[in-house]
Amino acid sequence: MSNRIAESFIQDLVLRSDIVQLIDGYVPLKKAGRNFVACCPFHTEKTPSFSVNSQKQFYHCFGCGASGNVISFLMEYAHKNFVEAVEMLAARLGLSIPQGEYNAKQAKHTSLYDVLRAAMDFFRHELEQDPKARDYLQQRGIDAQTAQRFALGAAADQWDRLYNHLINKKFSAESIAAVGLSVRSERSGREYDRFRGRVMFPIRDRRGRPLGFGGRSMDADTQPKYLNSPETPVFHKGDELYGLYEAEQVTRTLEHLIIVEGYMDVIALSQHGIVNVVATLGTATTPSHMQRVFRLTNRIIFCFDGDSAGQKAAWRALEAALPVVSDGREARFIFLPPDEDPDSLVRKQGKEAFNAYLDGAMPLSDFFYTQLSQNLSLETPDGRARLASLATPLLEKIPPGVFRTLMLDELAKKTRLSLNSVQKIVPANPELPLPNRAGGMSSTARKTPVRLGLALLIQYPHLVQYVENKNIFKEVVVAGIDLFAAVVDYLQTHAKQTTASLLEHWRDRTEGRYLERLAAEELMTPESGVQAEFKGILLYLQKLAIEQNVEMLWQKASSVGLSDDEKNQLQLLIQQQKNNE
Ligand code: UTP
Ligand code: MN
Repeated sequence: MSNRIAESFIQDLVLRSDIVQLIDGYVPLKKAGRNFVACCPFHTEKTPSFSVNSQKQFYHCFGCGASGNVISFLMEYAHKNFVEAVEMLAARLGLSIPQGEYNAKQAKHTSLYDVLRAAMDFFRHELEQDPKARDYLQQRGIDAQTAQRFALGAAADQWDRLYNHLINKKFSAESIAAVGLSVRSERSGREYDRFRGRVMFPIRDRRGRPLGFGGRSMDADTQPKYLNSPETPVFHKGDELYGLYEAEQVTRTLEHLIIVEGYMDVIALSQHGIVNVVATLGTATTPSHMQRVFRLTNRIIFCFDGDSAGQKAAWRALEAALPVVSDGREARFIFLPPDEDPDSLVRKQGKEAFNAYLDGAMPLSDFFYTQLSQNLSLETPDGRARLASLATPLLEKIPPGVFRTLMLDELAKKTRLSLNSVQKIVPANPELPLPNRAGGMSSTARKTPVRLGLALLIQYPHLVQYVENKNIFKEVVVAGIDLFAAVVDYLQTHAKQTTASLLEHWRDRTEGRYLERLAAEELMTPESGVQAEFKGILLYLQKLAIEQNVEMLWQKASSVGLSDDEKNQLQLLIQQQKNNE
């Protein structure tokens, strides 16, 4: 992970930055009451529903649900990654990021990027004088402009042409090997080029820096068909998406993103005007990919070959998507006819034909249930039970929300169980009802006291001072109490927190998104009543803890009996209950 900068430094940045000032530099804000507002930069609208709260150091759009702190804003709006966002904030405040692992790592990486950039430039230059490679691209229908846009190149069929070029450019042998461009021969101990006699596809990050390469052989005899850079300090296949940089060069807003399997699929679609396409790099779609794509857009469409390998890949993609498809996010699937891939299809049949497939893409829920019901007879109790047992462990992964409920509802229909009993066999994780995507009042979200207490605590972190007895959090059994206790713990050990810094601490954790929604929620409690409301909730939890303890002891009394200690305890608790009334 890139997040190696000390958390305390990041928290400090969040606490010292001024979100109103920062956002105002990108999106002019107007004062409205205690907040600042603007037309939302994340979706198209005519009347402002984007609001920035200076006290919470938090922004939120009531229209599309976008929300977060200064770091989130730079990531979402300015398309920075986490480290870049931190760097920008530090620069604005005139702070330098603490020395140590981070800087050493960055410094080392800088030169590795330079090696890769020099290699990319060299391959591009070589393409101009490599008729075989140029013919190959032509025969595959790639025009010169597309080749330019994707910075395609050629590696000559020689042992050390690139290596010598880079050495002449004063790059060290170690750095060339470190980025995977050279390989050391076991026998002679000499370095030779990894990529020889291949058409070269640079894989670039969002800033356009090459991280690695794919090299396509030009005839069927040369195996493997694609040779890829190995994992290196700067190249992690499981994280990268081929074509993202090129897509963002053409469209800044990705209304949806198509995910395909191959280099050539991305390039062919792009050349035919379908530009918002990326490929995972010959690896299965990972949860890390999914997190990344859903930061870019709320709608993704997987496009796989029609063969059984394609079906398998699609299913793996579905599994990777489940933990991150929450309300407002959507994943669909396209299956092409057997023997076609997006490249061949768009070349033979054109853009419109491909768009027709896009329009007919299968919703995740359909794919999910058709796939699981394969070879099952839902007419028999056995078949239905089997479906339930196949679906349960997968459905568990879906975050709480409307989408999850719809999926459970579908299972209920198919198994002829009630929604209630389906909900019982699929435990929620975390067991908390969520507000809708807009973060407002949702009819489906239960307003439990724990949930309200947590929302109050996130929005008014100083309330933590009223927590006196933390034992009740351990004793009481109620959904969401662990998270509540964790937030209390954090606030008690870190003074002067804001909503924004709290959220920062939970960034990239499962509960982070949930807390963010609570932070955005408009509470019914007026500010003057916040303290009383919060104390009321603590009292409620305390009563609940006593009640649950009493019940447990009664049950024990009637089964195995109570020890003297337990009898005393029971009496004490009952006395407390009376006092509380
Ligand atoms: P495919 O075999 O479907 O290739 O592999 P393709 O993209 O259709 O390639 P063309 O059209 O024959 O040129 C899909 C992807 O899997 C990875 C590559 O990323 C490729 O684009 N792959 C495939 C490899 O990494 N190595 C291989 O040997 C084959
Ligand atoms: Mn192909």
